[in-house]
Amino acid sequence: MRFLRAQWQIGGMNDVNHDSLADLADLRLRLGDRAIVLIGMMGSGKSSIGRRLARALGLPFTDADDAIEQAAGCSIPEIFQKYGEEFFRNREEAVIARIIEDAPLVLATGGGAFVSEQTRKLLLAKSVVIWLHADIDTLVERVGRKDNRPLLRGKNVRQVLEDLSAKRNPYYAHAHLVVQSHQAPHDRTVQGLIHNLDAHLQANDLRRGASQERHEPAN
Ligand code: S3P
Repeated sequence: MRFLRAQWQIGGMNDVNHDSLADLADLRLRLGDRAIVLIGMMGSGKSSIGRRLARALGLPFTDADDAIEQAAGCSIPEIFQKYGEEFFRNREEAVIARIIEDAPLVLATGGGAFVSEQTRKLLLAKSVVIWLHADIDTLVERVGRKDNRPLLRGKNVRQVLEDLSAKRNPYYAHAHLVVQSHQAPHDRTVQGLIHNLDAHLQANDLRRGASQERHEPAN
């Protein structure tokens, strides 16, 4: 796989050789007008990895939580506190539906977004959905760096993350792709992700080609 051989740095793109740039441009073409959507638990690295992925592919990046905060004019903890979780979930559905209209782009969703049937159906139809999976130790370590998640404040964080994972994993499992988010530099995860995405798009192209051949009459 040429992506992995190429000496490229997602952060700066300065050391990218021509082969890898051509590969990335080709992948970007095959993506067409679909979005790449990252789903998964709090702390799985959706925003950091999404931002790097977008930079590598030359696509815009949007974080659904940031968009919700902008639209509401206050932070997520404030939204939960003032209006409650149900209000937040409704805003989340509406904001994601609006963002996806601007595809192609890379979208990082909040951990609970994909539980909504409406959002799940929309994203599975209009984008390539990637579940960033991380083990509980990694999630606990990462969420401990910030205190901006209302579902975790004042709680036994490990227990909440275990319970939420058990509830949400069956929904996340509908994703088109699953990528392991390692306790390693994010660039490594991004490389693995691009490799998987490339294979997925190629398999899709092959399937589409085969079904077109079946429907087109032979000359
Ligand atoms: C939530 C995850 C958060 C944010 C909100 C609720 C969840 O986003 O949307 O605090 O229900 O898991 P991150 O997954 O980006 O932390």
